[in-house]
Amino acid sequence: MEALKALLPEFENRIDCIYIDPPYNTGNENWVYNDAVNDPRILRWLNKVVGKEGEDFSRHDKWLCMMYPRLKLLWRLLSEKGSLWFSIDDAEMPCARLLMDEIAGQQSFVAANVWQKRYSRENRGAIGDAHEYVLVYAKTPKSFKHRRNLIPLDEKQARVYRNPENRKETDPSKRWRALPMTAQGYRPNQMYEIIGPNGTVHLPPDGRCWSMIELEFLKLKAAGRIYWGKDGNAQPSVIRYLSEVNGLVPWTWWPHEDVGHTDEAKKEINSILGSGNAFDTPKGTRLIQRILDIATDENSIVLDLFAGSGTTAHAVLRKNAEDNGTRRFILVEMMDYAETITAERVRRVMDGYGEGDKRVAGLGGSFIFHAVGQHALFDDDGHLNPAVDVNTMRRYLAYTEGLPAEAVVASDNPIAPAYVGSHDGRALLFHYQPHVGTTLDYEFLAGLRFDAATRPERLVVYADYCTLGEDFLARARIVFKKIPRDLTRL
Ligand SMILES: C[S@@+](CC[C@H](N)C(=O)[O-])C[C@H]1O[C@@H](n2cnc3c(N)ncnc32)[C@H](O)[C@@H]1O
Repeated sequence: MEALKALLPEFENRIDCIYIDPPYNTGNENWVYNDAVNDPRILRWLNKVVGKEGEDFSRHDKWLCMMYPRLKLLWRLLSEKGSLWFSIDDAEMPCARLLMDEIAGQQSFVAANVWQKRYSRENRGAIGDAHEYVLVYAKTPKSFKHRRNLIPLDEKQARVYRNPENRKETDPSKRWRALPMTAQGYRPNQMYEIIGPNGTVHLPPDGRCWSMIELEFLKLKAAGRIYWGKDGNAQPSVIRYLSEVNGLVPWTWWPHEDVGHTDEAKKEINSILGSGNAFDTPKGTRLIQRILDIATDENSIVLDLFAGSGTTAHAVLRKNAEDNGTRRFILVEMMDYAETITAERVRRVMDGYGEGDKRVAGLGGSFIFHAVGQHALFDDDGHLNPAVDVNTMRRYLAYTEGLPAEAVVASDNPIAPAYVGSHDGRALLFHYQPHVGTTLDYEFLAGLRFDAATRPERLVVYADYCTLGEDFLARARIVFKKIPRDLTRL
């Protein structure tokens, strides 16, 4: 939560792709992280935020309480073209779906993809569990369809584009396949007779029509784009070249052949961090890369709030290496292993890892590791915490007042130490001193060194007290806001 709040001022509306893989709430408390939402830190947080009622919560209630505010903030970070991808299994799928419907709106739902996580049978349950979900919600669902990318064809999928007349052809502009030229139903202007090169007369099969009107067919025929089979007697079909195929429309079935399974993911992390690493539940990079393929462009920022072993960063780096992209990632991890597992994996992937002929070359890139600050901005009574650096407070205030980050100046500016910046004719002042009450009065106003170029139309002044009358404030177009009462709390 703290990391999310810290990200908001800089990244609100800027993240194109959010991937989350939160605890699934299976009740398992024995992993390196606690999957039953019983981690002491989360319990402390619940107790503080939700209060005593939190003590009788069922597992599902606790999970919902943990997820709700985080998703609310995540949704604000998402850009207009952005989408949120949510890994979950059946333990919380129904709650996850309803929760997202509430936060993002039902209209933002795009798909519930089914990922085949196993390739071998699971015999422990009444019905073997072989899949998980990846839910997708888009900030502007109508345009998401036009903005999302197609999935690149892999060699297996491209294999169908074999020139039937020269199966060894490798040039994509000469590799083609014959696509059937019929469609279901009856459309009168698509029911014409076609005469083949050998004089054979073709009509659409029963219950079907041609997939285009005659004029279009004639154009394709003239362009040599109709295939009549080896002997020239087959029903016409349309020639489609591999070089014309931009990719496949994603679909909701994600088989392990395409995106990998959990075993592959475990082997992958073992090969990077060694088999003694304690992280049991990583996702595979191929799975995350599928998401990046669909949801990002070369400059996107990708955020993962439940980073675990850092798979998302790995997938971002690999995708960048593939298409020369400059995608950036933000990972958040709550456990102590943020440094030893999450960051360490990313470091190794960037620098290269493994010995001898098993050596894997580094993908390059860099990152900064931050820990959430020790001091919360507000104390338990809602007062500003004097231990927090004043510049941090000024940035926070500017954000809550809608002042763009680039308009914020340092406190040693020529106008006044309290001056934070101006935007749209409105100047923001933060008259604050730790442990001392401050007052908005004539003396304070007289000390402001605005000149003709910087003089604002309106002032917003934060201070502890105000001795100026309401009439004067209205005439001078000054809004007084009281510290801490009027400070917005995220
Ligand atoms: C299922 S794992 C994620 C695995 C990750 N996708 C990977 O590929 O390695 C969930 C992670 O979320 C972390 N986590 C749980 N609650 C959290 C919270 N409230 N804030 C941040 N991280 C949290 C856990 O410590 C754990 O590392």
